[in-house]
Amino acid sequence: MTTTTTKAEAGAEPAARETVLDARGVTMRFGGLTAVRDVNLTVNSGEIVGLIGPNGAGKTTFFNCLTGLYVPTEGEVRYKGQVLPPKSFKVTAAGIARTFQNIRLFNNMTVLENVLVGRHTRTKEGLWSALLRGPGFKRAEAASEKRAMELLEFVGLAEKAQHLSKNLPYGEQRKLEIARALASDPGLILLDEPTAGMNPQETRAAEELIFAIRDMGIAVLVIEHDMRFIFNLCDRVAVLVQGQKLIEGDSQTVQGDERVIAAYLGEPIDETPKAEALAAETPEAEAPAAETDADEAPEAEAPADEADEAEAPADDEAPDEAPAADGTPAEDDTPADAADAAKDAAPGKENDA
Ligand SMILES: Nc1ncnc2c1ncn2[C@@H]1O[C@H](COP(=O)(O)OP(=O)(O)OP(=O)(O)O)[C@@H](O)[C@H]1O
Ligand SMILES: [Mg+2]
Repeated sequence: MTTTTTKAEAGAEPAARETVLDARGVTMRFGGLTAVRDVNLTVNSGEIVGLIGPNGAGKTTFFNCLTGLYVPTEGEVRYKGQVLPPKSFKVTAAGIARTFQNIRLFNNMTVLENVLVGRHTRTKEGLWSALLRGPGFKRAEAASEKRAMELLEFVGLAEKAQHLSKNLPYGEQRKLEIARALASDPGLILLDEPTAGMNPQETRAAEELIFAIRDMGIAVLVIEHDMRFIFNLCDRVAVLVQGQKLIEGDSQTVQGDERVIAAYLGEPIDETPKAEALAAETPEAEAPAAETDADEAPEAEAPADEADEAEAPADDEAPDEAPAADGTPAEDDTPADAADAAKDAAPGKENDA
């Protein structure tokens, strides 16, 4: 599938670096809660950058701001110098693809069909034609399928192309999400906890896969709680704590920083030290949102803006019938209480503009 590569090998390449992602002063508030506060982050071509931090630090929220799911309260996101429009399908079309902390696949579609959906931003026929097998789609079908099969081969899922995605083991579903993201021919891929739920062998394979993605010329920004994975993989690591960037540097610098050790590495990963801090910061941030791990709340309704994106009822049955404009099922990262808070803050209204 992939060949073994390392950071050192990548460093040997005399590539001219280009700033692919440039996030400046990104702030995201939900009512009284500031989930992301004035975060600057760049990702350059050829780089794998890690984003770490305790549960509730704002990592996924930051990704949502980068990908147009949320309109940041303040700040600006540029991709290759262009300010990104705050619409997820436009962000995907511009060249940023992502995977989700809570896997978002079309469960009743095959593995191949899921990748084809990810391809729609690069075909003239568009999403609905792809799903309905219209005449325009027929013409583009062969080329798209060829590319999708190449990507399935790349992630090691070619043999399962005709399986329903819901029948894949968890680790393979994560790989399928990566294949779908790659199908949009991105210049930058954002991975939100790509090894969550994987065993050590699968995690190691995921590491190799991410090196291989970087070697394809795609810059990578990755969120993970697995520190060994992050420090082995990343050229640079940024640490978010309570919505703010605490430090950024190479693995050695970040691992050795006392504030990081105190804020994060010294804490058991499954604890949520943010909960008390959030409760102290704002009454709106009371326990449920901070305490409830997003992964434990799959029934959560999508926030208002994401329901708009999905152009479909925001319940969990909807995705198979009505994918979002960016080719992914409706987001369910957000606990129900947080979704209510989001409605209060109404980022969705701005996102309609
Ligand atoms: N739509 C929303 N409405 C209100 N609050 C939200 C919303 N989305 C996230 N939050 C809150 O923002 C904070 C940051 O959450 P986020 O999911 O970004 O953290 P995270 O760093 O990804 O955590 P984890 O490691 O557990 O995935 C949390 O307190 C969360 O409850
Ligand atoms: Mg998260």
